Amino acid sequence: MTNPFLPEEMRLVRRYDLTSDVRFFQVRPVDMDRALSLRYKPGQFMMISLAGAGEAPFSISSTPSRPGMLEFCIRKVGRVTTELFKRKENSLIGVRGPYGNGFPLEKMIGKDNLIVVGGLGAAPLRSLLLYILDNRDKFGKFYFLHGAKTPEEMLFRKEFFEIKERDDLNCHLTVDVDEKGQWPFHVGLVTDLFSKVEELDPENTYATVCGPPAMYKFVIAEFLKLGIPKHQVLMTLERRMHCGIGKCGHCAIGPIYTCLDGPVFSYWDVLHMKDLI
Ligand SMILES: Cc1cc2nc3c(=O)[nH]c(=O)nc-3n(C[C@H](O)[C@H](O)[C@H](O)COP(=O)(O)OP(=O)(O)OC[C@H]3O[C@@H](n4cnc5c(N)ncnc54)[C@H](O)[C@@H]3O)c2cc1C
Ligand code: FES
Repeated sequence: MTNPFLPEEMRLVRRYDLTSDVRFFQVRPVDMDRALSLRYKPGQFMMISLAGAGEAPFSISSTPSRPGMLEFCIRKVGRVTTELFKRKENSLIGVRGPYGNGFPLEKMIGKDNLIVVGGLGAAPLRSLLLYILDNRDKFGKFYFLHGAKTPEEMLFRKEFFEIKERDDLNCHLTVDVDEKGQWPFHVGLVTDLFSKVEELDPENTYATVCGPPAMYKFVIAEFLKLGIPKHQVLMTLERRMHCGIGKCGHCAIGPIYTCLDGPVFSYWDVLHMKDLI
């Protein structure tokens, strides 16, 4: 039996800065056949390891509808990320996964969807956004609301500006503050953008949020005001993880292992499980 903790060597194909401390990484298994056969779901994560620095979990930002590559959006905060930021294109890094439950795509297909992103929440939700856009005919009405602190801190700016131009979704972008007066869209909190949401069939809608902890309470309140059922309100939650495969207990909350039963949870789960957020 292969050791489940053994990382696979993957090639760092491309990297570039998204902001002053967040970088985009594109990686792929060294073997191209293996790269093309890699399967995952939006909302899952991988463990990235670097010799001497350790290992940490990161959400997959790419979509399985564009096979062959894995993409990540990573903020430099500590040992693993500092070491990763030193790695040049074409170097090899350790990657294992995919892990976690991911989004319940089979239930979301055919429904209206509303995605709300704040800051680094773009990392997991870009995967879902691109998946829905690549399978647009399979989903109903689609809203994407995105908030960043400032224009400079917005991740995937060029890509999201281009998506905003599409006419097969309602994409609204905001920043909290625009000191230089250069931002072409709304200025204010992401919850302001709910005034632009209309014509959703709440019983038939999945609403997904990921962003800074302070944002959840206010965004979830807006989802509930729209009448979206609690079990159709989804969020991805982070917990300190070590193994990622339900063995070490680091991510346990009562009987729940966030690495196996999460990181995607519904608001119904949150209400019924103490300390989930
Ligand atoms: C499911 C999941 C998905 C994630 N996805 C992403 C993603 O897509 N992008 C992303 O950027 N991050 C993501 N994260 C977060 C990422 O895994 C952590 O930031 C990880 O700790 C980074 O590893 P590191 O070694 O660089 O940082 P660490 O060295 O672990 O440091 C992380 C933070 O903890 C602090 N810290 C470290 N050691 C201590 C200590 N002893 N006492 C107090 N504070 C300490 C550091 O100052 C720093 O702020 C995700 C986490 C989870 C669980
Ligand atoms: S991280 Fe080890 S059990 Fe979840």
